[in-house]
Order: sequence, then C-alpha cells, then structure tokens
Amino acid sequence: MTDGDVELEARLAEQEAFDPPESFTTQANAADPAIYEEFEENWPECWEQAADLIEWFEDYDEVLDESDAPFYEWFVNGKTNASYNCLDRHLNERGDKVALEWIGEPVDEDNRSFTYEELYQEVNEFAAGLREIGVEEDDVVTMYMPMVPELTIALLACARIGAPHSVVFAGFSADALATRMNAASSEHLITCDGYYRRGDPLDHLKKANEGLDGVDHSVETVVVDRLGDDGFGHDLTDAQTGYAELRTAHEGETVEPVHRDAEDMLFLMYTSGTTGQPKGVKHTTGGYLSWAAWTSQNVLDLKPEDTYFCSADIGWITGHSYIVYGPLALGTTTMMYEGTPDYPDKDRLWDIVESYEATQLYTAPTAIRAFMKWGKEHPEKHDLSSLRLLGTVGEPINPRAWKWYYKHIGNEECPIVDTWWQTETGGMMITTLPGIKTMKPGSAGPPLPGVDVRIVNAAGEEVEAGQAGYLTVQKPWPGMLRTLYQNDERFISEYWQEYSDPEEDKWVYFPEDGAKIDTDGYITVLGRVDDVINVSGHRLGTMEIESAIVGVEGVAEAAVVGGNHEIKGEAVYAYVITEDGYEENEELRSRIVAGVNEAIGPIAKPESVVFTPELPKTRSGKIMRRLLENIANKEEIGNTSTLRNPEIVTEIQQKAQNN
Ligand code: WTA
Repeated sequence: MTDGDVELEARLAEQEAFDPPESFTTQANAADPAIYEEFEENWPECWEQAADLIEWFEDYDEVLDESDAPFYEWFVNGKTNASYNCLDRHLNERGDKVALEWIGEPVDEDNRSFTYEELYQEVNEFAAGLREIGVEEDDVVTMYMPMVPELTIALLACARIGAPHSVVFAGFSADALATRMNAASSEHLITCDGYYRRGDPLDHLKKANEGLDGVDHSVETVVVDRLGDDGFGHDLTDAQTGYAELRTAHEGETVEPVHRDAEDMLFLMYTSGTTGQPKGVKHTTGGYLSWAAWTSQNVLDLKPEDTYFCSADIGWITGHSYIVYGPLALGTTTMMYEGTPDYPDKDRLWDIVESYEATQLYTAPTAIRAFMKWGKEHPEKHDLSSLRLLGTVGEPINPRAWKWYYKHIGNEECPIVDTWWQTETGGMMITTLPGIKTMKPGSAGPPLPGVDVRIVNAAGEEVEAGQAGYLTVQKPWPGMLRTLYQNDERFISEYWQEYSDPEEDKWVYFPEDGAKIDTDGYITVLGRVDDVINVSGHRLGTMEIESAIVGVEGVAEAAVVGGNHEIKGEAVYAYVITEDGYEENEELRSRIVAGVNEAIGPIAKPESVVFTPELPKTRSGKIMRRLLENIANKEEIGNTSTLRNPEIVTEIQQKAQNN
C-alpha cells in the first residue's frame, strides 16, 4: 500500500456516515426528500404510484381493502398480467433492446442475449407448449433448474397463462424437491439435464428424477438440454418432453396473456421457518409486481437504458424480484450469471461488470467478504467505472465489508443500498433512498416511504433509540405475502400472533428479526430471533437440519445452532448424541454431513459436528441453544443455573475444542 492508500483507509475506517455523491443524486429517480412526508400523509393512496408503473387491463376500484385483515387485498378488482408487463408493453418502444444478457459458465463462451422481441417470442412459444402438455390457469408449475435463460423464460411463460410458479433452488436436494411438489400438489416440473460448475458438467436430471420418485402424484416434466454432448445420456420417459422440441413445435405462435385479478397468485416460494415444514409463501400479481417495480425504480435506480447485474440465484426471492420481475417490468437490461464468482478466476464478476458495462451491482455481504479476502488486486484489474450504484441483501453487512465495497468496487462514487427484506415481504422494506439519504455503514437505513417499521420490546411497546428490540411492520404494503399456501392458520400464527390485537383490529407483522434504531430513525438489523440460521444469506431452519441428522443411522438426538463464520456470516454447528452401540468417529461424522447434504443440500452442511453424551437442557427439557451458540463462537458461557445438567457444558466445550 502507498501512503495515500493508508491515509484513505484510515479516513474511511473512522467515517460513519457517507453522503451520496452528487454525480448520483442529480440523476436519481427518487431525488425529492418530501417523498417521506407525502407518503405518510397520503397512505395508502401513495401506493398508486407503484401501481402506475405497470399497465392494467382493467383499473382497480380501491387501493387497499382492509376489511378482512390481516388478509389484505391491494388494487382491488384490477386486472393485469405480469408477463405482459415484462414483455409486450415494451415491444413498440424497445423491442430491439436487450432484455436479458445471459452469461454462462465459460466452457465455450456460449453467452446469449435476448432482445425484448426475442424474449417475447420465446416466452410465447413456450407458453403454448405448456398449454399443450396440459398446464391450465392456476396449476402450480415447479421449476428446478439452475441459472439458465430458460428459467426466466419459464417464469414468464407461466405468468402469461396464469399458472403460478414455484421455483425450487437447484442446489436443494431431491427430497426438498419432492416435499415442495407434494405440498403444492404440483403436477408439472420444468428442469434441465445438467449444468456446469467450475467447468465440469453436473448431472441435475438424476437428482430431479430421484425427487420425482418421492412425489405422490403423477408429474409431466419438461427437460431443458443445457449440456448437449456433455450430457449424461438420460433417456426421457413418456412423461418427459424436451424443452426445445416442445417450444419449436409452436414456433411463431403467440398466446394471449391471461387477465389475472390483482389478487390472483403469481407464484409460491417455499422458505424455512421455525418448524420442520417449509412455508409456501404466496405472492399475488398486482401488489407484488407493483412493489418489485417501484422498489427497483427508486432503490436500485433502474432506468430502461441501464444494464443491471444482480448476482443472486433465481431460486431465491432476490432473483424473482430483482433479476426477473422488477427490472423487466421497467424495461431494463437484466443480467443472469450461471457460474460462481471465482471461476475461472477470482476476478470473474469484475470481468463481467467491465465487459457488459454494468450500471448497478446487487449482491450479498457473504460475497463481499469473500472478495475482500481474495484481495483488491482482482477488481483493480478491471475498469468498473460503468457502475453507478451498489446494493447488498440477505444478511447484515459489517461496516468493514461495506467500506471495502464502497471503496474498491464503487471507487467512492456509488451509493450503497443495504436492503432489508424477506421472501415474505416480496421486495425491499428498509434501506436508504440512494438519491436522498445519507448512508451509515452497518445500518440498513430508514424504512422506505410509506412503510411503517417500529422496533418494539416483548410487550409491543416501542423501544428507545439505541436499545435492541424486535422489528415489526405496523401497516400493510402491496408486496406483502397474502398467506401461506393453503394454510391461513399458520400464516396468522407465524407472522401476526405476537404483537397484534385482533379485538382492536390492530394487525402487526412480525418478521422474526431483532433490530435497533438510532435517533435519526436508521435501523440496524441484528438477525433472526427464531430458530433460523442465515448461511451466506440463505435461510435454513434448524429443525429441518436436526431432523435430517436424526435420520442418520446411529444418531439418537441432535441440536443445531448458527455460529459466526468469517465469510458465510453464520455457519451450521451440530451437537449430536449417538445411539447405543455406535461409535463417535469420523465415519459417523461424514455420514451426518452426507445426510444433511442429501436431505437439504450442500448449503446446509454442518461446519462442525461435536459428539456429546447429553445436550444442555432446562428443567422443563428445552435445549439451551444459546449456550451451544456460545460454545460455537468460543464465547464466555452465560448463566447455566437454569440447567438440569450444568456439568455437561464444560464437557461439550472441551470436545468442541478437540474437534
Ligand atoms: C435477513 C432475502 C440484515 C433477515 C431477501 C431476514 C437481512 C432474512 C438483510 C430474509 C439486511 C435480509 N440486513 N439482515 N439487509 N436482508 N436479511 O427470506 O434476517 O431469504 O429476515 O430474503 O434475511 O431472508 P430471505
């Protein structure tokens, strides 16, 4: 480092607030600070602004219907179609403009660009194909595929014919696929033969077929050919059709976009919760799409002439809202990247940003921490001056990583939006409006205009600035989930039980995060307060992992907690009691890791497995997870006086050390 560098680092390290650069504010989509007050005074009509970003076949009668809260309805009786909004309506003005830039694994440089016109055509043909294989309006279609362009096409084709999609992350296991298809009674699957990871082909259809074995009803499958000659030679069964075949049989056809009610389901997305069964989060057509579009416009500052890069996977909500629906609704060029950030080299992302002249980059803190570890020499090899804005999502970002991102990727010229939201919220909820607000590293910022976030104590009273409490949302918003699929009861108990007062018709949404607020109203999110672990920005339920471990032969009982991890944010730490007759050895340990891999997927694999004769339990028999967390983090052990078996704590500590 030069002296100048040292000086700069020192200055950045001390600085706690950063104003957005003027080069940005003067061109920002949201530039008038009055928006906060205006939205507050004009709530809920302020959300007409979001609805105005999309085109309606029939206008809505009412912005919000609260009569059956918390089953809120937005843009009542409006009719629209998400596929129409992401494609058809852009054709006249920008049919020749690139809608989707797909960047594949660099095996043979087979990147693909789709103009709006081309994407429109392919979506129409595939929509006709889906109809041919019997997909009807309201049928749930499952997608289990990696980041290939056909995934985006499939989403939009389903939306076109009013068939809700349910995307299962391709890294999830066969079991996870089967559970989700059974839960949604989904009779159609779109998957692919395989994909490349670090240059090598990976057999995905094998896993999909294993999943199908666990589905309790018959399924029609469409298989995308990604690997060509590198494929694994699976023969398609009678219930399986090749994607290309199906689509080309309908070459040149168009399919009228179905008029969907604003409240009709656009998609389901399964996510982890406190209990074992994943929750089927239901999002609707009008409210969700408006929310994705409005937040993309005002937070990501997307404009039609931008080339925007979100490095998330469409298997998660971030990809749904901020690779597909938000950017395409606004007529932007959206990018989709198949590979990993370190193949063929650790500058892969920067190479992509430079070659495509990306204008925004939206990624996760876990990725930024990895970039930081790899060193600034990788971004320095590239010209990143096309970037105008940076964003993060998925987990808290530590100020050091924030500052590194700000300096080494943004060259101190790009505002950073640290966006707090969830699968359930549909889109961003807490973050600075980048053209207006000062940024404070480590704090997501104030709630968006019109979003009513309060930090409360256990009794539901607002806490003072600086005090930790629970994050709550006290007014509904258009992008909110409407229910858990076919489970209204669980919808209430998961999200509305804690702080609502039904007698008073007061409904408070509880996202199960802890947070604190400062005197400027900036919110620092502290993390989950339920039994959910956030590994590299991905939500995993401890119960799901525990039941996978207990399913391994030789395991009697297991407890899983999240411990700190330098890159992943949190990692899975498992504490396991063996069954009589089984030895605590490496063989069992690797079977446990394999068991989790098989039941959930590689992201859930434990970082460490500690064998113990007992778990620390309270007198009423509850596992004291907090102590296990302390052990994982090598922290002081807190109070053990409420334990039935306090002596076990030191023993587990010793075993963890020797691991
Ligand atoms: C966490 C991802 C701190 C949080 C879009 C939330 C965050 C969970 C942030 C949702 C952030 C997300 N700062 N924590 N900027 N963004 N989280 O459903 O705990 O996969 O409840 O949605 O991630 O994860 P999900």
